[in-house]
Amino acid sequence: MSLKKFKEILKNLNYSNSFKPTETSRILINGVTKELNKLNNFHGKKFLDLGCGSGILTILLNNNYPNNHFFASDLDDGAVLDSNLNFKNFKIKAKAIKSNIFDRWEEKFDFIIDDISGVSSLLISETNWFDNSIPSEDEDGTFLLNNMLKQAKYYLNPNGIIFFPILSVSNHNKAIKKAKENFKISLIEKSYWPIPDSLKNKRTILETLKKKKIIDFEEKFGSIFFWTCVYMGYSK
Ligand SMILES: C[S@@+](CC[C@H](N)C(=O)[O-])C[C@H]1O[C@@H](n2cnc3c(N)ncnc32)[C@H](O)[C@@H]1O
Repeated sequence: MSLKKFKEILKNLNYSNSFKPTETSRILINGVTKELNKLNNFHGKKFLDLGCGSGILTILLNNNYPNNHFFASDLDDGAVLDSNLNFKNFKIKAKAIKSNIFDRWEEKFDFIIDDISGVSSLLISETNWFDNSIPSEDEDGTFLLNNMLKQAKYYLNPNGIIFFPILSVSNHNKAIKKAKENFKISLIEKSYWPIPDSLKNKRTILETLKKKKIIDFEEKFGSIFFWTCVYMGYSK
């Protein structure tokens, strides 16, 4: 999806009580649609948007694959509120519910699009960089993702696919190792994003965390860029 189209949708989206969609949302949807477009015309499939925030991914997926069933959930009340409002405004047949990862789901899905990705708590505490809608539970930022990956196989139909991002503000290698224990995975998208203004004067701390292999970044044109990788996984 082009940045222009993404920004157009953002204009009509309400995210006053939820996470504002980012570059990760955009590349996640790019990767997912690229892969789903390779499948033969499908219909009647069940999608789960896990960590739905404003519901943007469900809205985009519903536009692209209308003859399917859409489900969404988030731990945050504001996200559930915004998603349901956006589904109504965009005339999307979907309902968001409050759920801690899979806790409130009893059914199985054909496609799970997970957007619950972590950030190293050290990065947050040592830099005071904090966005309260980004989960941050442990030092390497992989706790929630690992937890989700461990459970996900029980919520996927046979031949179901899970899509998930890993951000370089968490320990990518540790997350990927865990992901491989649960799924056959492949990288489908990678995108770089510039260092947020609030981290620009924290170079020493960032370099220390990088040396400890807790986070990663690349330097281009004298500036720091973090990255997000999107993976897809099939049950083993
Ligand atoms: C990075 S945001 C993504 C939101 C949306 N998918 C988007 O693209 O804008 C991650 C979302 O995961 C939710 N979340 C965090 N921990 C969660 C948990 N344990 N269970 C369910 N959702 C969670 C947050 O409330 C947040 O809305």
